[in-house]
Amino acid sequence: MSKPINLMGLNLKNPVVTAAGPWARDGKSIQRCIDAGAGAVITETITLEAKQRVSPRLFVDGYRMFNTMLYSDLHLEQWECELEQVKKHDSKLICSIWGSSASEIAYLAAKAERMGADAIEISISAPIGSRNESVCNHSADIRAFVRAAVDAVSIPVMVKLSYEAAVSPAFLQAIEQAGAKAVSAIDAIKGLRGVDIETRKAQMSTYGGYTGRNIRPISLATTAQLRQYTQMQICSVGGIQTAEHALEFIMLGATAIQLASAIQRDGYGVITKLIGDLDDWLACHGHTEIEQVRGSALPSLMPFEDIKPNRLKARITERCDLATTDCNVCINGCLYDAISRVDGAITIDSDECEGCGLCSSGCPRRIIQLGW
Ligand SMILES: Cc1cc2nc3c(=O)[nH]c(=O)nc-3n(C[C@H](O)[C@H](O)[C@H](O)COP(=O)(O)O)c2cc1C
Ligand code: SF4
Ligand code: SF4
Repeated sequence: MSKPINLMGLNLKNPVVTAAGPWARDGKSIQRCIDAGAGAVITETITLEAKQRVSPRLFVDGYRMFNTMLYSDLHLEQWECELEQVKKHDSKLICSIWGSSASEIAYLAAKAERMGADAIEISISAPIGSRNESVCNHSADIRAFVRAAVDAVSIPVMVKLSYEAAVSPAFLQAIEQAGAKAVSAIDAIKGLRGVDIETRKAQMSTYGGYTGRNIRPISLATTAQLRQYTQMQICSVGGIQTAEHALEFIMLGATAIQLASAIQRDGYGVITKLIGDLDDWLACHGHTEIEQVRGSALPSLMPFEDIKPNRLKARITERCDLATTDCNVCINGCLYDAISRVDGAITIDSDECEGCGLCSSGCPRRIIQLGW
C-alpha cells in the first residue's frame, strides 16, 4: 500500500514523481509514467517555440549520461492535444514551463492550468544554452518570473533549480517571496564527456547536462543545504535510481523525490519497482507514514566548525594476505606511512596513523576499523 504525501497542498498517493524529460514528452509517455504508478508526472519542459532537436543529443557511458536536449520539441497546440488524451486516474500532472520573459511565463502557466495541470514547475536554470544565465544571476528577474506564474494561476507553482541556483540563499529567498510553494533540485550539471586526444576534438559539440548516479552526492548535499535555507518543500532529483536512494533524500528532508535518467536507462518499470521497494522498506521498519522518517538524518549533520578535532586510529580486524589479493587501496593510499607489508600481510602502525579514514572507508573487505 503506497504511502501518501502532501506536496504543495496536492495529495500524492506516493512520494515518487517523474522528472521533466523525454520520458514524459507527449501524452503516450506521460500515460506510461502514470500507469507505472507515479504519484505525479512532470512534463518535458513546454515553451512557446518548439525546440529543434540536435543529433546526436544523448551520450551514455556506463552510468554517466550527458544530454544536449533543451526542452520539448512539441508546439503548445500539440501539447493541448497530447494532454487531452491523458487519463490521470489518481496521479497528478505537473506542467514544466520555460519562458524568456515574465509575460511569457504567465501565458504558459495559465495555458497549462487550462490544459489540466495540477501544478506548474518553472524550469529556469537548465545548464544547456546560454539564455538562462542572466536569470540565474539576478534574484530580481527570478522574482518577477515566479510572481508572474503565481499571479496567473490558481494552482501551486514550484521552481526547478540548478545546483548553482539551489545553493544561493538570495535566489531562494526571491523565489519564496514570489509565492513558490516548492523547489525541485537539482537540474543536470553542466558537463563535457571528454576530449578525443587523437582528433583533438571535444566528444560533444556543446556543453551538456550531466546526470545519473554520479551526481547523487551533489544532489544529496543540495537537499540538506536547502533544508537549512528555506521553508519551501523540496522535491529532490539527481541520481536517484532505487528506494534506498529515495530514502536518503527523504531522510535529509525531501518531501518527494523525482526519477529522471533512471527511466531513460532502465525503462518505466523502475518507477513501479522503486514504489514497491519503498513500501517494503517502510513496512519492514514498522513505519506507517513517510513523515516518520522525513528529516531523520538531519540531526547527524553539523557545520564543519562544530566538529571537535580528534585522532582516531586504524586497526585491522582480519589478516589481509597480499599474495591472495589484487587490492592495494590502503597500502598505496596511506600518505602517512602507517601501512606496510609484514610477513606478506597488511600491518598498521598505530603510532604513525593519523586517523584520516582513507583505509577504513576504502577497504573493499571492510576489515579496517577506525576507533580509539
Ligand atoms: C535527456 C534528458 C532531458 C531532460 N529534459 C529536461 C527538461 O525538459 N526540463 C527540465 O527541467 N529538466 C530536464 N532534464 C533534467 C532532469 O529532469 C533531472 O533534473 C536531471 O536529469 C537530474 O536527475 P537524474 O540524475 O536522476 O537524471 C532532462 C534530463 C535528461 C537526462
Ligand atoms: S587511517 Fe589514514 S593514516 Fe591511518 S592507517 Fe589508514 S590511511 Fe593511514
Ligand atoms: S584495503 Fe582492505 S582488502 Fe585492500 S589491501 Fe588493504 S586491508 Fe586488504
